[in-house]
Amino acid sequence: MSLLDSLKWRYAVKRMNGNKIPEATMHTILEATKLAPSSFGLTPYNIIVIEDEETRKKLQPHFYNQPQVGESSALVIFATWNSITEKEVAEYMQEIAEERGVPVESLNDFASYINGSIKNLTAEQLQIWAAKQTYIALGFTLVAAASEEIDATPSEKLIIRK
Ligand SMILES: Cc1cc2nc3c(=O)[nH]c(=O)nc-3n(C[C@H](O)[C@H](O)[C@H](O)COP(=O)(O)O)c2cc1C
Repeated sequence: MSLLDSLKWRYAVKRMNGNKIPEATMHTILEATKLAPSSFGLTPYNIIVIEDEETRKKLQPHFYNQPQVGESSALVIFATWNSITEKEVAEYMQEIAEERGVPVESLNDFASYINGSIKNLTAEQLQIWAAKQTYIALGFTLVAAASEEIDATPSEKLIIRK
């Protein structure tokens, strides 16, 4: 299918048949998720994939009791970070340094630039900013699922921890 045909095929599915998504297909979808852009490349979210049926059934009441949660074969949770501090930025610099094989010190200017930007934001602004990045990843995932002809339903839940 062309990309446009895949997007026309996609809709927010209300019931699932629970058929297992082949491993290679799941891998493709999650790789697309990883390829989503984010501001500074910081990806201020964690992605948790729950394939275990018992766990999904336990979680269903926490997602407005929507049957898709229990019936699906995979629940992909995009958990936006509550806060972003210099610690997360330092960890990100470490990851880049390892991936590119460069000394972490060579990224000091980049780290200072990010730290300077996030320091100017309130906790609430940071959470909103982080959530925006998360939704980009969700969008990539939904498009990838459609292109693989895998049914999906997006849903959101607001939990703010102070
Ligand atoms: C952030 C977000 C949250 C949504 N939450 C739900 C939801 O909890 N349950 C559901 O069935 N659909 C949910 N939807 C799907 C929308 O209702 C749906 O995309 C919209 O009505 C357009 O229909 P379509 O996607 O079937 O074309 C959500 C969509 C988004 C983007």
